[in-house]
Amino acid sequence: MSASERVRELRAQIEEHNRLYYELDAPTIPDAEYDRLFRELQDLEAANPDLASPDSPTQRVGSAPVAQFRSVAHRVPMLSLNNAFSDEEVVAFDRRVRDGLGAKDEISYSAEPKFDGLAVTLTYESGVFVAGATRGDGFTGEEVTANLRTVGNLPLRLRGEGWPRLLEVRGEVLMLRSDFVRLNSRQREKGEKEFVNPRNAAAGSLRQLDSRVTAGRPLRFFAYGVGVTDGLPAQPETHSDLLDLLSSWGLPVAGERRRVNGAAGLLEYYVDIGAKRSSLPFDIDGVVYKLDNLAGQERLGFVSRAPRFAIAHKFPAEEATTKLLGVDVQVGRTGALTPVARLAPVFVGGVTVTNATLHNEDEVRRKDVRIGDTVVVRRAGDVIPEVVRVVTELRPADATSFVMPTDCPVCGSSVVRAEDEAVARCSGGLYCPAQRKQALLHFASRRAMDIEGLGDKLVEQLVDTHVVRTPADLYKLGVTALIELERMAEKSAMNLLAAIEKSKRTTLARFIYALGIRNVGETTAKDLARHFGVLDGIMMADEEQLMRVSDVGPVVAQCLRQFFAEPHNIEVVEQLRAAGVTWEEGEPTAAPGGPATGKVFVLTGTLPSLTRDDAKALIESAGGKVSGSVSKKTDYVVAGAEAGSKLEKAEQLGIAIIDEAQLRDLLNPEGEMRDEN
Ligand code: IVH
Repeated sequence: MSASERVRELRAQIEEHNRLYYELDAPTIPDAEYDRLFRELQDLEAANPDLASPDSPTQRVGSAPVAQFRSVAHRVPMLSLNNAFSDEEVVAFDRRVRDGLGAKDEISYSAEPKFDGLAVTLTYESGVFVAGATRGDGFTGEEVTANLRTVGNLPLRLRGEGWPRLLEVRGEVLMLRSDFVRLNSRQREKGEKEFVNPRNAAAGSLRQLDSRVTAGRPLRFFAYGVGVTDGLPAQPETHSDLLDLLSSWGLPVAGERRRVNGAAGLLEYYVDIGAKRSSLPFDIDGVVYKLDNLAGQERLGFVSRAPRFAIAHKFPAEEATTKLLGVDVQVGRTGALTPVARLAPVFVGGVTVTNATLHNEDEVRRKDVRIGDTVVVRRAGDVIPEVVRVVTELRPADATSFVMPTDCPVCGSSVVRAEDEAVARCSGGLYCPAQRKQALLHFASRRAMDIEGLGDKLVEQLVDTHVVRTPADLYKLGVTALIELERMAEKSAMNLLAAIEKSKRTTLARFIYALGIRNVGETTAKDLARHFGVLDGIMMADEEQLMRVSDVGPVVAQCLRQFFAEPHNIEVVEQLRAAGVTWEEGEPTAAPGGPATGKVFVLTGTLPSLTRDDAKALIESAGGKVSGSVSKKTDYVVAGAEAGSKLEKAEQLGIAIIDEAQLRDLLNPEGEMRDEN
């Protein structure tokens, strides 16, 4: 037998043993025999480098570490799901789906477990796994192909036939509970850090720069959908059929998925899986319901970042009781003071909790939380744990009340609380080191400038040693300043500098968001960028001009004006530009003199063919503005299926109500044909 024939035979044998092990949990040969086959293949490939292949099982052991992960833009965004926490919300979801489709009969859904791991996307070309990435912010993720190759049950080559030329598989990487327990006991023996839960262990393992480390971690993959496909032989009709098809190609899918009918079917599934939850081999944090019919999914489309055709029904948050040892006050990015409960350690929702938010002073009063109390703590998923209530029967005689300090605990500036606000704030602004640290962390965060490696420990040191005062100072950092910091070796310093350098190329929307202007979140930043196209336009706009931007009202406009009226802020912006931070400036979308100039629209309900974002873009490109709420200033309410209170309000105020077709006529009065390309 030739080397190449033997290599082919060994690969097929090894992958078959992998399948028996992972899929059927029924290995047919002892580990030593498997290892022998594996070594024989490794030796043959080493002796015949021309026989190497990315889909060989030998590629599962990891390869040389990389300096950093490459970012990749997802061809189809990886969106999130809206959540339902009650039966009523599930019933409402089913009603929305039926109304959206104009369906009279019961609807079929695919009901699935909601895996508590990390979302990834896998690319198969002609059946061979060629690339994989994390979800990242949903639009761009990190390329972790080498790490994904080590995931035992992830097929490096699809089985069966009929797979398309291009297939993007979407799913979740996780660690089984049993594997997690074994991994932690191994970590303990080696004197290494233990992981808090399987999710964190999976996340930490997948994001290793050295894929050989990942190879030593027992990860699994489960598919729940697809991204781009090209060349599917026959388009499946339902999501269930799609998952069956993926499964027939050797892609692992949840065995617990089921096709159910109507809201009653959904709720039955929820109860059923809830009862099985603790005996499942992996952690789940709820179930996911998806309209089964794929054409229907397409018709319903998306609202902002989540599909209308699917919803996650979450399990209730876990609660536990513990003792409140004290209350610390944290200072946030905008100076907001948050009382934080210091707790006797308690295990809840899969992790040990020692801190929980008390939100604000009023909440502390309302719940009558006193130091020394026994309190109920709740933690849901990745949400910050919170103190829910006090067990008053257990209150000791010496329990003391919490008093909000009158001076900032960090910088000593006076604390002010506006009459109409629940939040007390430090008035120190960027003089306050706490606010400066938070502002820097926000600036560097993933959805802002995305400076990897600039975490809280580092920012803490940079601010405390006065090396960095403003975001612009980050771009002046050099290796010498960095390696003087604690726990900063030359290599990490170089990595950080590379990440800072990389962040210089950004987008206008990210840049505006990164500035941390109060009330200017990611969506507003995107709206501003789209409307004005250039930064100077935003910086120079007065409140009236700002309010022409969709969803910008007087409060946001004022925050923007105040921010750019501050010479210090202008200086930081100029320094950032001088340091080389750039983005592509665009054309303003707001067409002056367009048919909708000066008109304010409110969108409500589901339009037959336009998503909210599309409708917004159309209105803006005709010079109009979209607002979130109906008032006397509204000119038109564009109503679709299932329009609610906004429609009622429009009727009360006597505002013109139009549908999608009328909107299109209005925006396109000459009835010009649009170029579909
Ligand atoms: S479908 C368009 N199905 O939940 C959205 N997601 O909140 C497609 N997840 O990041 C998602 N199990 O990683 C879907 N059976 C399942 C899931 C699932 C877990 C995760 C997913 C996503 C998050 C959405």
